[in-house]
Amino acid sequence: MSNPINAVRGMNDLLPVDTALWQSVEKIMREILRTFGYQEIRLPILEKTELFKRSIGEATDIVEKEMYTFLDRNNESLTLRPEGTASCVRAGIEHGLFYNQIQRLWYMGPNFRYERPQKGRYRQFYHCGAEVFGLEGPDVDAELILLSARILEKLNLTSHVRLQINSLGDSQSRAAYRKVLVDYLTKHQDQLDEDSQRRLVTNPLRILDSKNPAMQNLIVKAPKLMDHLDTESAMHFEKLQTYLTSAGLQFELNPCLVRGLDYYSKTVFEWVTTELGAQGTVCAGGRYDGLVEQLGGKATPALGFAFGLERVMLMVQQLGLAPAPNEPTLYFITDGEAALTQAFKLVNIARDALPHLRVLLHCGGGSLKNQFKKADKSGAEVALILGEQELNAKAITLKMLRENIPQRLISQNELAEELQKLFK
Ligand code: HAM
Repeated sequence: MSNPINAVRGMNDLLPVDTALWQSVEKIMREILRTFGYQEIRLPILEKTELFKRSIGEATDIVEKEMYTFLDRNNESLTLRPEGTASCVRAGIEHGLFYNQIQRLWYMGPNFRYERPQKGRYRQFYHCGAEVFGLEGPDVDAELILLSARILEKLNLTSHVRLQINSLGDSQSRAAYRKVLVDYLTKHQDQLDEDSQRRLVTNPLRILDSKNPAMQNLIVKAPKLMDHLDTESAMHFEKLQTYLTSAGLQFELNPCLVRGLDYYSKTVFEWVTTELGAQGTVCAGGRYDGLVEQLGGKATPALGFAFGLERVMLMVQQLGLAPAPNEPTLYFITDGEAALTQAFKLVNIARDALPHLRVLLHCGGGSLKNQFKKADKSGAEVALILGEQELNAKAITLKMLRENIPQRLISQNELAEELQKLFK
């Protein structure tokens, strides 16, 4: 036997024990997005590398060290998408979706980042993202945040997460603040760790996001971006808070929330939890009013968020909120070739009568005893048994597998009605 080949580190298989949970969470998300008027967009997994460099930013961790980038056979540099926003903007520009139109879009799918894998952090991970284009007021910021809150509520996670918000201002006020921050940090350069020394030049705002305990004192005392906001951004942020309060949504102001991607302006937010250890952000997003223009489109205000699906699943599982696995309800057992042949007719009748019922026809032969064992193991509630006796009587035996009720013979002609009565 040759050596088995394992999956790439940090890239997970989702096995049947996991997919029932994934499907039910995805369904809840899709349904809420639909009711908020969002439409699905499906985007390629591969994009030109330049797209991510220009949008996420050359000096970010993602672009500097986390992208899966390679040359294709035509020597073109391509990258496995590390996130969905850049692709969504690219597609919107390419297909003219932003011309005098408001777009509310959502997507679900895998992303790739070469990070150090740990609980809640993987090299392939899934997003469920939402993006809105063409609206600049704080009302839509509130509406988008409320959409994310509703998803969390429907997943029963509300009491396990906290909403943090901040404003990054417009690009001028941010540039002015950057100077103030760099002055402050330069004065205390001896207290900066190696990463932050580097960031002082490339991306000083990200220093505020450092988790290094030795630097927290320095960060807490740093000048606040909030105190350097331009008037419009400050008003925008005030209004957003008024709307969230009116909707009864609790939030925390986190002046150190700066996000790891360069395209944000004004509102940024994260839903955080203490349930997942170090990787505590389950959903994150914000406004990115400059990005459409930066990528070659007509200036269009925009904002969005993405849920990290693995983290959502981990929470739901850990808190015991996962739905029951997808087990068959009805299990057909047959004895002999003639019975099996007839059973093919009867399973159709059962499936037509109850389209949502999970019906399994035993395949692979075996003794009746063996088939009963399989039926029991499958989790089915009801077995339908077809042997020679039943065939002769044009009947079928119905046996409740989880209740102590005597089995009974029903007519094959009445199978549909009997099942409808049983599962109504
Ligand atoms: P992000 O913060 O990079 O934002 O990712 C969003 C979420 O994806 C994170 O909060 C986290 O839950 C999850 N996530 C990120 N990296 C990993 C990983 N390596 N393993 C597992 N989960 C991960 C964005 O990507 C933006 N595109 C969000 C956005 C949409 N902003 C505006 N529109």
